[in-house]
Amino acid sequence: MQDRINGILEAVEKHHELYGNALPMIASENITSKVVRMLLASDLSHRYAEGDVGARYYQGCEYIDVIEAEAIRGAKELFDAEHVNVKPTSGVNANIAALFALTSPGDKIMTLSVPEGGHISHAKYSVPGIRNLELHEFPFDPDEMNIDVDAMVREIKDKKPKLILFGASLFLFPHPIQEARAAADVVGAKIAYDGSHVLGLIAGNKFQDPLREGADVVTGSTHKTFPGPQGAIILCRNALKEEIDAAVFPGTVSNHHLHHVAGLAVTLVEMMQFGEQYAAQIQSNAKTLAQYLYEEGFDVLCEHKGFTESHQIAVNVRSFGGGDGVAKKLEKAGIITNKNMFPSDKSPENPTGIRLGVQELTRIGMKESEMREIAVLIKRVVIDGEEESRVKEEVIELKKDFCHVQYCFDNGDAYKNPVIM
Ligand SMILES: Cc1ncc(COP(=O)(O)O)c(C=O)c1O
Repeated sequence: MQDRINGILEAVEKHHELYGNALPMIASENITSKVVRMLLASDLSHRYAEGDVGARYYQGCEYIDVIEAEAIRGAKELFDAEHVNVKPTSGVNANIAALFALTSPGDKIMTLSVPEGGHISHAKYSVPGIRNLELHEFPFDPDEMNIDVDAMVREIKDKKPKLILFGASLFLFPHPIQEARAAADVVGAKIAYDGSHVLGLIAGNKFQDPLREGADVVTGSTHKTFPGPQGAIILCRNALKEEIDAAVFPGTVSNHHLHHVAGLAVTLVEMMQFGEQYAAQIQSNAKTLAQYLYEEGFDVLCEHKGFTESHQIAVNVRSFGGGDGVAKKLEKAGIITNKNMFPSDKSPENPTGIRLGVQELTRIGMKESEMREIAVLIKRVVIDGEEESRVKEEVIELKKDFCHVQYCFDNGDAYKNPVIM
């Protein structure tokens, strides 16, 4: 039995080593500071605290109340939100709760299709299917990689959805919330915004400000551009707080993950101090990497718009065999990315593109000059067809100087386990 446990420990150790030597560029990931990782391993991970601060169904929650109250206070302050719920255990969980609160079976909702960037939790495979919602897709302009505003306004007035759900997984440019608000008011629609990917940019006053632009509810994972523990958050207007809170507990969460709440509370403080600087560097890194990739010969989407306003870059690699093969080749060179569907794609198995995210590279301190080196490394693998193992040696060399977490108070080692006993 000990052998089996040792096998697991060894795999975890090797996983740390793999990431320590790699360029992690999956757009939905990040790393937490050392203090957050220590909190994730604390006794909080064993406990239950159903209910709200000061009104729990379990005893023993004296300090859990202090921690959750601090997370709520921090999120209200950072996002300037009237009401906050810190209990959702993931972005999908937060979306399920929001859809539960804001719709009834049979209602019409408007979302982005998956090939155009929408997330699976906005689609028929998830709550919209289970709750029998009538899905209407936003009209999308693939050249602009964004929602077609005039057509959207017409569609809202024509279809009269109960809910308009913005936000995306492939998310290069801010969504037209302001433009939708007037039409939504005419037909009595609510607006929700899934900020999972861009929550850290919003926290740093970049990309867009959905609550001020007209969203009633914002959901978001707390571990993509927002560099906290895996989990999620919901922000909303006071007018909706009862519906949202009931849809989270008891609607879709029994016990929330208290160690995550503690980690979130700390990350919120980190973002108050460093968020603006961090978000600005992410945007600059993404634009810089996109520009260099373009100059190296890649078909990077939306050159005419400066490529991106977020942490993401979308690259059409069809002429190099498609997203699947390219992502696998890059992995052999230690560059971790993912294949991604683009608007005209039908198959998620071998889509047209790859999606690159620079938020983790930014969190470990990389800047514009490293983006240039990375563009060349990617080109050598994908365009020149160079032996991946040779490129990997240079990836390891480059990564050596970037193994500490920045934009936090402890600058801990990013890829070592801080709690190995
Ligand atoms: C737009 C969007 N919403 C929600 C999610 C799901 O988040 P989680 O993995 O936290 O459930 C994702 C995942 O990447 C996403 O891209």
